[in-house]
Amino acid sequence: MKVLVVGGGGREHAICWKLAQSPQVTELYCAPGNAGIAQIATCLPVAATDVAGMVQCAKENEMDFVMVAPDDPLALGMVDALEEAGIRAFGPHKNAAIIEASKAFSKELMKKYHIPTAKYATFTDYDAAAAYIQEQGAPIVVKADGLALGKGVTVAATVDEALSALKDMMVGGKFGSAGGTVVIEECMTGPEVSVLAFTDGKTVKPMVSSQDHKRAYDGNQGPNTGGMGAIAPSPNYTPEIAERCMKEIFQPTIDALNAEGRTFKGVLYFGLMLTADGPKVVEYNARFGDPETQPVLSLLDSDLFQIFNACIDGTLDQVEIKWKDAAACCLVLASGGYPVQYQKGYPITGLDQVEEAVVFHAGTKRNEQGQFVNNGGRVLGVTAVAPTLEEAIDQAYLSAKPISWKDMHYRPDIGRV
Ligand code: AMP
Ligand code: GLY
Repeated sequence: MKVLVVGGGGREHAICWKLAQSPQVTELYCAPGNAGIAQIATCLPVAATDVAGMVQCAKENEMDFVMVAPDDPLALGMVDALEEAGIRAFGPHKNAAIIEASKAFSKELMKKYHIPTAKYATFTDYDAAAAYIQEQGAPIVVKADGLALGKGVTVAATVDEALSALKDMMVGGKFGSAGGTVVIEECMTGPEVSVLAFTDGKTVKPMVSSQDHKRAYDGNQGPNTGGMGAIAPSPNYTPEIAERCMKEIFQPTIDALNAEGRTFKGVLYFGLMLTADGPKVVEYNARFGDPETQPVLSLLDSDLFQIFNACIDGTLDQVEIKWKDAAACCLVLASGGYPVQYQKGYPITGLDQVEEAVVFHAGTKRNEQGQFVNNGGRVLGVTAVAPTLEEAIDQAYLSAKPISWKDMHYRPDIGRV
């Protein structure tokens, strides 16, 4: 089968790596991909957000199957467009992907169906939002409604900080139209866990749990990033909590989306906070998380392509999904200055000396001399699997040692905070 993966980051590298292991996948393509992905798939120069271009590319190349990984094309309706063109596609339709694309929508859904989450209010008017912040006091959380690369959220310790974030979003236009509507939430506390789940719209099968590290600097300080590293499974996610999440959050969400006429097929990502009052939803994503996908798929023993097909066909209940009895750690190597400002184009050395880990490429390309160079904020995800979490973490750091480029930056405490 000819399979095309849409996207070009570490997540897509991990998805391609896993799909390449399926006997049914005989030809693998990725658009636009990156220099690391190009080692295992043929990369095609179509932007992930170019819906019409991607449909045309899939038709011209006679793809049998297209997997849409990132949030933007899902929100733009790429899966709908591919299906209309008669191409089998994996991922939620546009009307279900809204669960990530609009925080106002997802909060309303949770309220209506009694799915536990932080208390909130939604605003389109700056003065009303500012008055609400004054009235509620701090700490308080201010979120842009739309997609903002995971960076449209401010957890404010003071009222002033919250007001300034609000102003950036609603007056300064920091996140463009994504910030025209804001959600203001109660601040929750507790360990955060990500649970990615396969679903065919009826059955939901959670993957092993994971934990991202969103802050740029050590000790969970600094600005939010797309994610500086991830471990799986999360030591905080006990079987009791898992059972409660299935009953109170996972299945109710799938049922709620069905009741709204927005059946969700694909990967639904539950960002959870384990509060003193029980697990609550921080956010939903309509897709695999990045970097969580790297450690999570490293632990998958079953055929990913078969699972994708079962999600489309509505037969997920008949598929047994097996996970390694082990742990994984993905350490993100980032460009110096990320997420604020960074230089691209520095040659990366030491990649050929990495042992005992898989290095997923998030943002690389080849220069004219054929060397890998950094080409994004997050550049590489060094991912190790070991019998215990401690060993996996140690192994990821050890494996990353030989790799370097100018101003390379990584957190020393992934899996330890
Ligand atoms: P989100 O993009 O909604 O996942 O938010 C990004 C990060 O902000 C989350 O991973 C949390 O660490 C934090 N966050 C979001 N909402 C809340 C909340 N209501 N209370 C505390 N922290 C939050
Ligand atoms: N790691 C968080 C996300 O993918 O949104």
